[in-house]
Amino acid sequence: MTENAKSIDPFTTAGKLADLKARYTEAVIDSGARAAEKQHAKGKMTARERIEELLDPGSFVELDEYVRHRTTAFGMDKNRPYGDAVVTGTGTIHGRQVAVYSQDFTVFGGSLGEVAGEKIIKVMDLAIKTGVPILGILDSGGARIQEGVVALGKYGEIFRRNTAASGVIPQISIIMGPAAGGAVYSPALTDFVIMVDKTSHMFVTGPDVIKTVTGEEVGFEELGGALTHNTVSGVSHYLAADESDALDYARTLVGFLPDNNMAELPVYESEVELEITDEDKKLNTLIPDSPNQPYDVHEVIRGIADNGDFLEVQALFAPNIVIGFARVEGRTVGVVANQPSQMAGTLNIEAGEKASRFVRFCDAFSIPILTLVDVPGYLPGTDQEWAGVIRRGAKLLYAYSEATVPLVTVITRKAYGGAYIVMGSKQLGADINLAWPTAEIAVMGGQGAVNILYRGEIKKAEEAGQDVNAVRTKLANEYTYNVASPFLAAERGELDGVIEPAQTRVAVVKALRALRGKRASLPPKKHGNIPL
Ligand code: HXC
Repeated sequence: MTENAKSIDPFTTAGKLADLKARYTEAVIDSGARAAEKQHAKGKMTARERIEELLDPGSFVELDEYVRHRTTAFGMDKNRPYGDAVVTGTGTIHGRQVAVYSQDFTVFGGSLGEVAGEKIIKVMDLAIKTGVPILGILDSGGARIQEGVVALGKYGEIFRRNTAASGVIPQISIIMGPAAGGAVYSPALTDFVIMVDKTSHMFVTGPDVIKTVTGEEVGFEELGGALTHNTVSGVSHYLAADESDALDYARTLVGFLPDNNMAELPVYESEVELEITDEDKKLNTLIPDSPNQPYDVHEVIRGIADNGDFLEVQALFAPNIVIGFARVEGRTVGVVANQPSQMAGTLNIEAGEKASRFVRFCDAFSIPILTLVDVPGYLPGTDQEWAGVIRRGAKLLYAYSEATVPLVTVITRKAYGGAYIVMGSKQLGADINLAWPTAEIAVMGGQGAVNILYRGEIKKAEEAGQDVNAVRTKLANEYTYNVASPFLAAERGELDGVIEPAQTRVAVVKALRALRGKRASLPPKKHGNIPL
């Protein structure tokens, strides 16, 4: 108790108010000052400062600031700080209600004991029953060692709530320090994981345990730093340069998302031009004459999105597929696009899994999906086959097939084989499928096809001393023109239209308008069995 608190007469109203003030000062102001000293010395913000920056100014309403732990083991009863190791509450982002928790590393290393767990569970329950996004800021040594199984049990309760909330409210995890051991599985169960470069780490077993068990030597950063999880493991969806960048990304992300799975998407003021603009015409020259020459699919995305704005998700992982959010006529659209400038846009296991999870997120939250296709096929090789490209590649088929949101697909160039089917084809349930005249839709690419179809002719040309490459290229071009033409697909109604690239933006606007009233549902079932 502070000196000030001791002089309070608790039997008068004025005394009770003074008592409240003294306790609040101890719980929030003084603890905040102590935390600031420790965190700032490490170049980090405190738990409350992070919340203040995340939320609209002045909107934070704290919950449970007077909670204290009840542990007596290891002399813990001598140290019972108000609030324990996490700050929780509600507030707004862009004027919309959200729930938030932020672990306080300066209190018992942000560790999760019984009451810190109860605080997180309470605010998660509040988010679920009020249907608002929940954002967790993690900075913690994990389960509180002094509390043993009680601490583990609270993690179990959090995981169950993460799962219950999945597909009901958006869940975003912002990692701003350690997230170690089983504690990593709460963020893993959420929809988006944001990590701060150099200062955040996630791992199930740390460097010491790894060295003891396997003899392998690896540092924190290489093992589970933000760069590793953004480029190698795909655990993280955004590599933030610093804490402010992470919070800014989270705010921008929330702006694209609905409050919950039953809520309308946020709509922003937007006047779209329905005539073709000079900017639109730039797409007419995007596709190179040579099918082997790449281009950057971001140019197509920016050409369609309102103001050219695109919030990319998992940009550094499996860059051969691009996913993220844009707005069309002020409304959120999820974009899935093959990226010809990375691995020629081929699909591999990582790209398939990245896109599948995104498609399922969009479907769960009624976000229409725009698919841009330029894919020469699946990446061949034993690496892929033995790593389970059959089982893991099937996820994307599953995700598109079960999606009931509006699906608009534009084929810009290659759409070959199984990859044609998987990338939002009509047969998987897409509503409006368009192609540019540069599209090539076939079982396989020209070069591959002529090697099989014209094996005899090529051999004869070789024997006659002709330029075999020239013969093959001529046959391949003829094949592409005759067999892979988008007009063959359009003739059969597999495409709803073939459009000039410059018309794409307006065509997508009109397609999404037409699909706004879409109603679709799947047969009743407990849940499906997506190949995992
Ligand atoms: C209690 C903890 C703690 C924990 C840290 N502290 N982790 N207290 N339980 N899990 C305390 C420290 O004792 C210290 O207290 C203060 O927090 C700061 O910790 P430092 O070690 O000084 O900080 P730093 O050097 O930055 O190292 C951070 C760290 C390290 C890497 C996180 O503390 C660490 O390795 N902690 C243990 C991590 C861990 O193995 N947790 C269990 C994971 S298993 P003082 O009083 O000295 O300031 C798990 C299971 C989840 O979480 C269950 C899911 C099913």
